[in-house]
Amino acid sequence: PAACTTRSQRPRIFVGVPIFAEVLQALAADFEVVAPCGTDTPADWSGPALAAAMAGCDGAFVAGTVPVDAALIAACPTLRAVCTMAVGYNNIDVAACTAAGVLVSNAPDVLTETTADFGFALMMAAARRIAEGEHYLRAGRWKHWRYDLLAGADVHGATLGILGMGRIGQAIARRGAAGFGMPVVYHNRSRLPEATEAALGARWVDKDTLLRTADHLVIVVPYSASSHHLIGAAELACMKPTATLTNVARGGVVDDAALADALARGVIASAGLDVFEGEPAVHPALLQVPNVVLTPHIASASLRTRRAMADLAVRNLRAVFGLGEEAGRPPT
Ligand code: DGY
Repeated sequence: PAACTTRSQRPRIFVGVPIFAEVLQALAADFEVVAPCGTDTPADWSGPALAAAMAGCDGAFVAGTVPVDAALIAACPTLRAVCTMAVGYNNIDVAACTAAGVLVSNAPDVLTETTADFGFALMMAAARRIAEGEHYLRAGRWKHWRYDLLAGADVHGATLGILGMGRIGQAIARRGAAGFGMPVVYHNRSRLPEATEAALGARWVDKDTLLRTADHLVIVVPYSASSHHLIGAAELACMKPTATLTNVARGGVVDDAALADALARGVIASAGLDVFEGEPAVHPALLQVPNVVLTPHIASASLRTRRAMADLAVRNLRAVFGLGEEAGRPPT
């Protein structure tokens, strides 16, 4: 019975990011909660503070900004689970966790459609020069009508190229094919089943063909050692000079310096970036080029979706510790 469970017997959970008050309350119902960030105080966990803050904890609730590396795992021998409220988990050394018997879970599915909405919006903003137009207007430069004022590239009917055809890539493909009449080509290590390709209206091509064919290239591939700088100067040089590139995956997939150079020299027309190598720092050269739309890693940031991501991480923690309705459910 619940009355037999004393507070000190409850698993202790470290919460490494600021999060909704309701989520902290939900955690507190089942766990002893260590939440140094509360609801609105982000912490810089790049130094030794993280291991000290996590000492003695049984589980961790994290997001992409909390670096869970082998040294941290070694410093936290009581840890049994790391549950991230993100779908990407390149900030977590899964091999080190597995070797130490620490279970890792992520938060897929709940953010797919929201992230696809944003990826599509960023691609449209780059193609139709929406941010450039806004800066132009705010700077008081709008004096006359001109036939070519901030004229960009059409999205409808243009070829949509998708690099990485997982759940989010497929959701972007559906938007392009069904809503905008776009022929869709994609490149992924493994091809989708034919029936899925047919339902999406998407065609697998090799990476080189993808780069040469796409009018609008959207990158949705997870970050790993093998996707590091998958798009660099050589790849950008293969693209059409009228093409756009949008990245809602991870910063390290694109060589930001090479992209800034390509944008400045007109190798491609424009870009939309929600993610950056070394974020929240942004390569200074990107800040200098006008033909790129820059957003601060917010592709999944609708309030409803961020709440769903956090709730899923809480459910995963409960599943790991066999608590409540989640007892017996394997975490995601
Ligand atoms: C994810 O879930 O990986 C996103 O990048 C976080 O918003």
